[in-house]
Amino acid sequence: MNAIEVRDLHKTYYGFLRRSKIEALKGVSVSVKQGEIFGLLGPNGAGKTTLIKILLGIAFADRGKALLLGRDSRDPRARLHVGYLPEDHQLPEYLKAWRALDFLAKLYGMHKRRSRVEELLQLVGIAERRNSKVKEFSKGMRQRLGIAQALLNNPKVLILDEPTANLDPLGRKDVKDLLLHLKDQGTTVFISSHVLTEIERVCDRVAILHKGQLLTEGTVDELTREKSLEDVFVELIRGAESLETV
Ligand SMILES: Nc1ncnc2c1ncn2[C@@H]1O[C@H](COP(=O)(O)OP(=O)(O)O)[C@@H](O)[C@H]1O
Ligand SMILES: [Mg+2]
Repeated sequence: MNAIEVRDLHKTYYGFLRRSKIEALKGVSVSVKQGEIFGLLGPNGAGKTTLIKILLGIAFADRGKALLLGRDSRDPRARLHVGYLPEDHQLPEYLKAWRALDFLAKLYGMHKRRSRVEELLQLVGIAERRNSKVKEFSKGMRQRLGIAQALLNNPKVLILDEPTANLDPLGRKDVKDLLLHLKDQGTTVFISSHVLTEIERVCDRVAILHKGQLLTEGTVDELTREKSLEDVFVELIRGAESLETV
């Protein structure tokens, strides 16, 4: 069974009185094996967040199927084993790191909160800053805390929407190391990004999405045999755009 299975997904957003429409996904299929780090790459507006929202049952597809660990993403039980970090997430600035996690654990009605929170602070490498307030954290550390929050329910599949978008090189290194650590522990990671060079090093496989369509998919080794992933990305997107203008 694949961790994620997306088949022929279509999604159109309509404007007021259907006077305008945007085809965000035009028949996208993707499969992610368990234990893999998968990167969904694409420029802004490609449809990455839309695909993630459908996977999480927050948005609904017009056509096609999305399965999480074999279950239809519209079934709430599909989300039991999934952790999610949204794009531009916010953390409570005036809470100490451990309390920010404890607060969420309480909302989830979790038992043995203290030990789980401590375990997560250790896992994401910020245990020694457990008593610092979130507002004192660097962006990389905030992202680590955000990922800890997404891991509260000990998910088998972790979905991160643009986790490295606003990070400096140190912050990106933090997140990269953490993703590799999670992979070692057997977690499947699905990550979306438009920051290319960073992703290339941690993903087992990537797909490139542009204007709702997949342009290519494969292992990073396959795609980068002759050129860098960045060159593959730019050439495919320029190629697709020149076809549109013919
Ligand atoms: N709720 C919405 N209503 C209308 N249009 C939307 C909505 N969400 C996204 N879009 C449009 O769909 C396209 C894909 O957006 P999105 O999935 O956010 O892409 P990405 O995450 O790759 O930047 C964009 O053109 C965006 O403007
Ligand atoms: Mg997005």
